[in-house]
Amino acid sequence: MATGGEIVVRLDEVRRHYGETAALDGVSLEIRAGEAVAVMGPSGCGKSTLLNMIAGLDRPTSGTVTVHGEELSELDETGLALFRRRRIGMIFQFFNLLDDLSALDNVALAAQLTGTPATHARRRALQLLDELGLADRATMYPTVLSGGERQRVAVARALMNRPAVLLADEPTGALDSHSGEQVMDLLLDLHQIGQTLLLVTHDERLAERCVGRVVELADGRVTGERSLEGTA
Ligand SMILES: Nc1ncnc2c1ncn2[C@@H]1O[C@H](COP(=O)(O)OP(=O)(O)O)[C@@H](O)[C@H]1O
Ligand SMILES: [Mg+2]
Repeated sequence: MATGGEIVVRLDEVRRHYGETAALDGVSLEIRAGEAVAVMGPSGCGKSTLLNMIAGLDRPTSGTVTVHGEELSELDETGLALFRRRRIGMIFQFFNLLDDLSALDNVALAAQLTGTPATHARRRALQLLDELGLADRATMYPTVLSGGERQRVAVARALMNRPAVLLADEPTGALDSHSGEQVMDLLLDLHQIGQTLLLVTHDERLAERCVGRVVELADGRVTGERSLEGTA
């Protein structure tokens, strides 16, 4: 799907060393607009590090990362923070919601941090929660929500600023199979309406259902790629 789209994410020979450890050891990768790509590989092979590079949460030791036309090495810390808020949506295995804010405020905050007025942010947050089947959870706090509900709130938050790319790091890893499937379906829906998506998962079934391409990673290197075109 959408293989002719513009390039949204480009990594060129990205290395990230932590002391002696090469978490990424020369990764090049391109993701086009509307593509959904899964990164798979054993624990410790560099998947989260790869996502963190694209999100601008961490910087490469060498190589370049370009997202939505911006070369991240050219941004200072303030620029990188702005980039992250405006262009990146991220969901994590353990949700990373703020427990002292309601579901609605968790979602709205993402837009308020980019300067959107509170009333406008809350209106859009409510609309997103409604679309994700969570309207009746809006005023509740994360600690009273189920894992699946928390993850869907996290997806709403990630979508608030219409990110150029949605990064998902093992988003079903902490969920029971039913909740996992709901989140999986949500990611598939997002892909089908054109959201560019990069998914890290151990779950072959999740990958096959949601994405058009799988990138295999081992020891910080891309060891293979396969297309799942037509299955998603
Ligand atoms: N902040 C860090 N400091 C030191 N080592 C790290 C750090 N982050 C990741 N690593 C190491 O880099 C390698 C890749 O980690 P990671 O990207 O988390 O792998 P994965 O997500 O595939 O499990 C591992 O060996 C890990 O221990
Ligand atoms: Mg990881």
